[in-house]
Order: sequence, then C-alpha cells, then structure tokens
Amino acid sequence: MAAVGTWLDIGPTTQIEAGTARTLPVEGGEEIAVFHTMRGEFYALVNKCPHKAGPLSQGIVHGDTVSCPLHNWRISLRTGEAQGEDKGCTPTIPLKLDGGRIFLLREAVIAPAHAAAKSATTPARAA
Ligand code: FES
Repeated sequence: MAAVGTWLDIGPTTQIEAGTARTLPVEGGEEIAVFHTMRGEFYALVNKCPHKAGPLSQGIVHGDTVSCPLHNWRISLRTGEAQGEDKGCTPTIPLKLDGGRIFLLREAVIAPAHAAAKSATTPARAA
C-alpha cells in the first residue's frame, strides 16, 4: 500500500553514486541518510546506528545492508533492523522515485521516530 501524505523532492537520483549515501540535514529533526545500492535501489534511514548512533551514511553498502563504520554492525536498509546477533532498529523513511528524482514522505522526515519506526520500505529503483 502506498504511503499517503506529502512527498518532499530532495533532488535527482544522479546526485548519489551507486554504493554510496548522501545525508540530508533536517531542521528540528534527525539527519537522514539516503542510500543508493549497487542494485540501483534507493533507501532512506535516520543516519544513526541503533547501537551507539554511528553515522550509517559513512558505512559500506553490501546488497541491501550497510555496515556501521564504528563497530561494524550490519543494518538492513529495508527495515532498519540490526542483522545477525545484534539487536536494535533505526527508523526508515518511505522513499519513492519519480521522473528521475527522489522523494521522501514529509511526515516521516519531520518525525521519523513516530511515523516510520515500524514500516519496512520497499525498494525504489531508478528507471
Ligand atoms: S555505533 Fe554502529 S555498530 Fe556501534
């Protein structure tokens, strides 16, 4: 089911190289990391590891997970959940692509902990 709400245009898909992430500062909210995987999928998460708040945007992307740069926990880009033995979850932000541009659900950007904490995101692919 598609999320209902207002979508924020955060720029073209070409601004994020495959296998990397860009950060999006949010006034009055949590910084967001937008990832572009080698498979051409895009995901957005709060830029904080559930372990000790490491900046996930600086981690290495493997498939649909990212390794935290601080202590190497692997975090699912789809669900925000820590993988393997590790426990914890980073809020995800609903994301869609349209016309080569990236859109984030405004309500989740402003209050990600409430709006998107439990929503697993579906991958958005560049056309
Ligand atoms: S802060 Fe991310 S693994 Fe420790």
